[in-house]
Amino acid sequence: MCGIVGFTGHQQAAPILLEGLSKLEYRGYDSAGLAVRDGENLAEVVKSTGKLRNLAEKTNDGLAIHGTCGIGHTRWATHGEPSQTNAHPHVSGNCTRSGSGPVESGVVGVHNGIIENYQELKDKLLRHGYTFYSQTDTEVLIKLVDYYYKKYQAGPIDAINKTLVRVRGSYALEVMFTDYPGEIFVARKDSPMIIGVAGGETYVASDVPAILKYTRNVYYIGNLQLARLRPGQAIFYDLNGDEIEIEPTEITFSAEAAEKGGYEYFMMKEIHEQPKAVLDTLNSVLKEDRIDLSEVGLTDEEIQNISQIYIVACGSAWHVGMAAQYIFEDLAELPVRVELASEFRYRRMPLDSNALVVVISQSGETADSLAALREAKTKGLKTMGIVNVVGSSIAREADRVFYTLAGPEIAVATTKAYSAQLIACDILAVQFGKVRGKLTEEQYGELIAKLRLLPEKMSRLLEEKERIQWFAAKFASAKDVFFVGRGIDYAIGLEGSLKMKEISYIHSEAYAAGELKHGTISLIEDGTLVIGLLTQQDLYEKTISNMVECKSRGAYLMGLTTYGNYGVEDTADFTVYIPKTDEHFAASLAVIPLQLLGYYLSVARGLDVDKPRNLAKSVTVE
Ligand code: G6P
Repeated sequence: MCGIVGFTGHQQAAPILLEGLSKLEYRGYDSAGLAVRDGENLAEVVKSTGKLRNLAEKTNDGLAIHGTCGIGHTRWATHGEPSQTNAHPHVSGNCTRSGSGPVESGVVGVHNGIIENYQELKDKLLRHGYTFYSQTDTEVLIKLVDYYYKKYQAGPIDAINKTLVRVRGSYALEVMFTDYPGEIFVARKDSPMIIGVAGGETYVASDVPAILKYTRNVYYIGNLQLARLRPGQAIFYDLNGDEIEIEPTEITFSAEAAEKGGYEYFMMKEIHEQPKAVLDTLNSVLKEDRIDLSEVGLTDEEIQNISQIYIVACGSAWHVGMAAQYIFEDLAELPVRVELASEFRYRRMPLDSNALVVVISQSGETADSLAALREAKTKGLKTMGIVNVVGSSIAREADRVFYTLAGPEIAVATTKAYSAQLIACDILAVQFGKVRGKLTEEQYGELIAKLRLLPEKMSRLLEEKERIQWFAAKFASAKDVFFVGRGIDYAIGLEGSLKMKEISYIHSEAYAAGELKHGTISLIEDGTLVIGLLTQQDLYEKTISNMVECKSRGAYLMGLTTYGNYGVEDTADFTVYIPKTDEHFAASLAVIPLQLLGYYLSVARGLDVDKPRNLAKSVTVE
C-alpha cells in the first residue's frame, strides 16, 4: 500500500528511483512522484497521475532530472483523491504547478501509511501560519517535521523524533532537508521499509525486489527507529536520538525470482511457481518422512496442551483459514475459529487461555492482521505467524513463525502464497493430529505421502490450462457468477470467487451450497454461470442437488471435481477434473483451475491482470 524508494550515492538518482518504483508498483498505482537533488541545489519535484509509465515519460525515464540524491513514491490513495496535487512527494513550503517543479527550501518527503490524527495536527499547523495545498495526511506530516526543525533547531533526527511523538498511525517516512544535501532521513512504524548499503551508495525501499539488483544484505529498520542515510552509510537511531546497531539480513531469493521470466503477467508466472512453493515449504519441515516443527518453535507438549485454535487473517489468507478449519477439526479433532483480522481486533469475545492464535499473512505487514496479533499477545495468548516475507512485522512479533517458502509474490492477486499457506496449514493439521493421538502411525505416513505428491499433481493440472482459457473466452462478458460448495469446497469457492472478481471485475459470490436457495437463487437467470465444487465425496450428492436447483432456473453449470466422478457430466455443462488426493488436501489442486479462470477472464476483458483497479498487494492501513 504505497511504495517508497530512496537513493543517495554517486550515480544519477532518478533512473534508479524509477526502476525501484517499477518493482513496487504492485503496492499502489494511482499516481507517482520523485524529488531529486543535485548537490546543494533545491530538490526538483515531478509528479504524475496514473501508472508509473506516465512519470517515466514525463521525466524521459529519469534522464530529465539531475542529481544523485532523491526519493520516490507510488501511491494508493487514502486521504485525498488520486491527483497530481495529492501525489507524493510533499513539501513543507508552498507548492507550485500542481506540486511539480523546484521546491522552496525546507523539507520534502514521501510517506507510506496513515496519520490518524492528521486533522488535529493540521489545525495546530494552521494556527502557526502553515497553509496546505493538498488533502493528504502526508503533507501534514512533512510540515510538522518542518515545524519542529525550525522551532528547536536541533537537527533532522530531533525534528523527526518530535514529530513521531505527536503522530498516531503508521508510517514509513523518507525526508530530505534543504540544509543537508546528499542525505535522506527515514523513520518507520508499522509500515515496511528496508535499507541497503553497497558500493558506496545507499538505497531505501518498501520491499526487497526494489533493491535486490544492488545488494542482498538489507537492514530491516525496526518500529519507531530512524536512520540517517549518506552515500554508502546508514546510521540508525532510537526515539531518544541515541545511535543503535542493526545487523543486516541476507536475502536468499534471486533477483530473477522477482522478474516476469517470459510470462506476460506476474500472476501467470506465480501460478506456475505453485508446485515449487508447495514443495519448498513442505521440504522445510519434512525430515525423513516425519514433520519436524522445531524450526517453527512448536513443541509436542505445547501441541498437546492447546485446546482451541483461532486463525486470524485477511483476504485470501482468511480463505486459507476457512479451508484449514475443516482439516484441523477432522484430523486433529481440535476446535477452530476463523476470524477476519479486522473483526477480531475489535471483538470482545471470551478467549480460551489455552488457545493458539495463528495469524496468516503473505506480506507480514497487513495492518489488521498485525493489530490482531498484538491484541492476542496483550491478552497473553500463544501466537504463531504463517508468513512469507522474512523479517516482516508479523514474523518478528509472533512468538513462533512458520515461514512459507513461496518467494517474492508481485501480482496483487495472490496465488503461490495462498498455496504455500495452505500446505503449511495441512502440515500443522497432520502433525497436530499425530501428536494429539488422533492419527495412527500408518495414517500419518499416508497423509505425508499424499502431501509429497501434491506438487507433481499441481504441475499436471497446469498442463491443462488451455481448456480453462477456452471456457473463459466463452464467459468473458458474464455479469454474475456464483460458486457453490460445502465444507472445504465452500472454502475453495471463496478463493475462486475472489480471484474472479478482483481481477476480471465480474461480480461473483461464493456460497455454502445449501445457502443459495435462502435468497440468492433469485438472481439466477438464463445462462448465469454457477460453478459447483465437488471434491468432498460425502457431500457430492448434496451439492449436485443444489446445482440442479440452479440449472432448473436456467443456470449454466460448471463442475469441478475429482477424476473418477464422471457422473457429474450428467448435470454439469462443462466439467474440470483434478487428480485424486486425500480429500483434506483437495483445495491445493482445485484452486488452480479457478485461479486460471480468473486470470483468463481478466486477459479476455483486456484488463491489467497484475494491477487490478483500486487494490494494493499489501494493505498497511486499516
Ligand atoms: C490484499 C491482497 C490479498 C491478500 C490480503 C492479505 O488484499 O490483495 O491477496 O490476501 O491483502 O494480505 P497478507 O499479506 O496479509 O496475506
